[in-house]
Amino acid sequence: MNKKLVSFFLFSFLTGMFSSGSPALAGDLYSWGKHIAEAGNGMPGNTACMECHRLKGGGMPSIGAPRIAGQTLQYIQREITEVQKGARYGPVMAGVVQNLSPKDILAVATYYSKVHSPKLRDTETLSPERVSLGKQIAHQGLWKKNIPACVVCHGADGYGVPPLFPYIAGQNRTYLMRQLIAYAFLERKDDPQGLMRGIAKRLSPQERKAVAEYFSSLKPPYSGSR
Ligand code: HEC
Ligand code: HEC
Repeated sequence: MNKKLVSFFLFSFLTGMFSSGSPALAGDLYSWGKHIAEAGNGMPGNTACMECHRLKGGGMPSIGAPRIAGQTLQYIQREITEVQKGARYGPVMAGVVQNLSPKDILAVATYYSKVHSPKLRDTETLSPERVSLGKQIAHQGLWKKNIPACVVCHGADGYGVPPLFPYIAGQNRTYLMRQLIAYAFLERKDDPQGLMRGIAKRLSPQERKAVAEYFSSLKPPYSGSR
């Protein structure tokens, strides 16, 4: 493992360690978070998350809104905060999270980190050839192009490595494609140490499609009933 990775793992571990709260407080946060998900926080411009992510966090494949059910509290909290600061590419999210307070963000992250949702159908059919190329890249990487296997960081089954390596298995295809393009060419520039930017740039358009189709074909974590 290289130095960058070691320091990022350490960073992930430390942020994980300092962010757990007491159980009573966690209960209140969960209820307030669910309220925000259903109805917003009452401030102007704040839209209920469920309009795009659904109440159970399954997302909306038709518009490329991501599945967020069971992503970690720390990851969800970080992504929203970064969008608010303008540090993370999020053209749609930028319009709806400006009026969330740090406590609102913690609450809604607590809520969505605990919900389960079945995988929702993708709008397009996948190509078996691309899925198989994607599988190969995901598990073996493309060493000639200096692309490590995706599972090194996203977990053996694409289920993520808490707290800051998100799960990507079962995520919708449109969202995955948009993120790879955003890392490669647009303004998604807050990934630690530029790890994802470099990888996304080195993948060819065909390879980006292939990995997006492969991961979207998998069963997502947190898909059971709850
Ligand atoms: C109008 C639709 C819409 C609403 C409302 C919305 N989102 Fe999003 N969300 C998106 C889209 C689309 C993205 C992908 C980034 C972008 O295009 O802005 C996203 C991205 C995210 C991400 C990043 C997921 C990842 O895997 O990195 C999180 C977390 C998130 N939203 C949480 C929320 C929460 C919490 C709320 C409510 C406070 C909310 N969103 C409201 C559409 C929406
Ligand atoms: C060296 C570690 C590492 C490797 C290898 C890696 N990733 Fe990532 N990936 C990350 C990190 C860290 C993030 C979260 C970055 C952020 O917050 O923007 C991420 C984020 C992503 C996202 C956005 C997820 C979301 O919910 O928004 C996608 C899609 C993704 N990676 C796909 C891939 C694919 C496909 C591969 C293999 C070709 C891969 N990654 C290899 C570390 C890695």
